[in-house]
Amino acid sequence: MSDIDRYAVLGQPITHSKSPRIHQLFAEQTGECLQYSALEVPAEQFTAVVTSFFANGGKGLNCTVPLKELAWAYAELKTERAQLAKAVNTLVLQQDGSILGDNTDGIGLVTDLKKNHDVALAGRRILILGAGGASRGIISPLLAEAPESIVIANRTLAKAQQLAIEFAGKVKVSACAYSDLNGQEFDLIINATSSSLTDQLPPLPEGLLASQGSCYDLAYSNKATVFVGWGLDNNALKSLDGLGMLVEQAAEAFTIWRGIHPQTAPIIDLLDSERH
Ligand code: ATR
Repeated sequence: MSDIDRYAVLGQPITHSKSPRIHQLFAEQTGECLQYSALEVPAEQFTAVVTSFFANGGKGLNCTVPLKELAWAYAELKTERAQLAKAVNTLVLQQDGSILGDNTDGIGLVTDLKKNHDVALAGRRILILGAGGASRGIISPLLAEAPESIVIANRTLAKAQQLAIEFAGKVKVSACAYSDLNGQEFDLIINATSSSLTDQLPPLPEGLLASQGSCYDLAYSNKATVFVGWGLDNNALKSLDGLGMLVEQAAEAFTIWRGIHPQTAPIIDLLDSERH
């Protein structure tokens, strides 16, 4: 067994994952010595692969689609944000040998919006499109920024209603169908549906985005996603995709594992420059 600290991202499919590259760049930048690989793991092999990885000296794992819920169930201990998200994207081997599960997706989004793009969240009206796992992962970190309200719109209304109930608290969180969005206006619209992956867009009425409002697609691709295009067509101040969130969530995981926070801006710029 090698002495170098080992990490990996698990998912299916995983071939196109940018995580090994991002973590390698973080390691070079911070002078940390580690190895980070990508492993294609079907759901039914998840438990065996994770158990063997840690039993053989592995230090930490990232988990992506479709394994985040399984990682949540696997982790013996969970951070509060992971507990609320019901999904884990980061597993950490702790000193006592136990496995801690965290979810850095939501904080990655918030950091990209606030720090990298100067998009304010406090006091703003936020619309989240979609009520699946991706939406669940970002709601509690967004609520922590004290927006005026969060509306969750979804094709299947019952799933949005369920999230609104679960995340009810100081900030008003409500659910609606796309057809109920007529006449409403938002300062920030976040696309958390998987529709970008098939070049589709939920039905969105005109006038949905407030003047000076911004759009954010959790998905990213080499060309502008359909939703980023919708934002530009609707005069968004900023219409962003999820590349920055990807790098920021990775930076949070790296910090948890290594105790040092890498600089994200040069890595985001590098990856961005490579897709044009
Ligand atoms: P993820 O983990 O990426 O969130 P998911 O849990 O399967 O994946 O959720 C996918 C989300 O995208 C759901 O909100 C889904 O809507 P339904 O709950 O009604 O299925 C939404 N979605 C997927 N394709 C869509 C489309 N073409 N138009 C609108 N919503 C779509």
